[in-house]
Amino acid sequence: MVNYKELGLVNSKELFAKAMAGQYAIPAFNFNNLEQLQAIIQACVETKSPVILQVSSGARKYANQTLLRYLAQGAVEYSKELGYNIPIVLHLDHGDTFELCKSCIEYGFSSVMIDGSHHDYNHNVELTHQVVEYAHQYGVSVEGELGVLAGIEDDVSAEHHVYTQPEEVSDFVKKTGVDSLAISIGTSHGANKFKPEQCTRNADGVLIPPPLRFDILEACEKMIPGFPIVLHGASSVPQDKVDTINQYGGALKDAIGIPEEQLRRAAASAVCKINIDSDGRLAMTAAIREQFALNPKEFDPRKYLGPARDALKEVYKHKIVNVLGSVDKA
Ligand code: G3H
Ligand code: 13P
Ligand code: ZN
Repeated sequence: MVNYKELGLVNSKELFAKAMAGQYAIPAFNFNNLEQLQAIIQACVETKSPVILQVSSGARKYANQTLLRYLAQGAVEYSKELGYNIPIVLHLDHGDTFELCKSCIEYGFSSVMIDGSHHDYNHNVELTHQVVEYAHQYGVSVEGELGVLAGIEDDVSAEHHVYTQPEEVSDFVKKTGVDSLAISIGTSHGANKFKPEQCTRNADGVLIPPPLRFDILEACEKMIPGFPIVLHGASSVPQDKVDTINQYGGALKDAIGIPEEQLRRAAASAVCKINIDSDGRLAMTAAIREQFALNPKEFDPRKYLGPARDALKEVYKHKIVNVLGSVDKA
């Protein structure tokens, strides 16, 4: 067992308190590999932003739990070497069992999400409470979730949003003891968040998705004043990245994300953590496809992973400075 403090990591408590008071959001960027981690740390050090390094259960299997522990410790040392000791949280994204959360805590995570949103309410409360009881013994923060995000890229079963019911949030927070709560207000995971027929077109023919349900967010805020709220599925799916991918042999169809101005509005509210994974995937894939097409004789992975890392870093810096507002908050 290693405690996150030994690795130089922090939990999310103080970061969320500052984000709430300062009306910005902490970036939660997913990673699986070295280049993504380098890009995140470089971007956050250069913008002096705190960061939540997010690892899904799939990412943990891909990268290996032991390597992740040292990568996170390395990230702390790397940020110092780059000249600024930014606060870094290592967070389990969408933990689905108590055992997975416990194991992550034992391997140095400073924050875990227990996602019981697919269970019925009472089961979600019970499971989340069990994780909180364990995690809090070690100072580890816990994120819970109420409401189900739609995933139109998945089965039909997930096609409809189950928006968070504001009348449940206060009871859930009280009974579970969670430190933050993810809610469902119209975002979803992946690069196909809306179908074109759900959208309208502006004068330039650009598809405009239906707005997020800020009425639900505001109703939740009233129920749990000052409590940190989390937004999943918050990628904007930049059209230039989608176009580059398709120009160089990709086949992404109807990729539509959350407009940035809606995320700026969310970041200024009680939303203290905004999750972004897909935009990083798009940036990396666009850069790699372009490098493959332009330099077909090249076979040194550094020649295409290097540009992918640079492209990722630019995406992260843009989010921090222009969308989340966490610049200079480290
Ligand atoms: O919310 C999901 C994240 O984008 C992680 O995705 O399970 O494919 O690693 P993943
Ligand atoms: P995106 O797929 O919109 O990037 O969302 C990521 C996420 O919510 C990770 O938990
Ligand atoms: Zn998510």
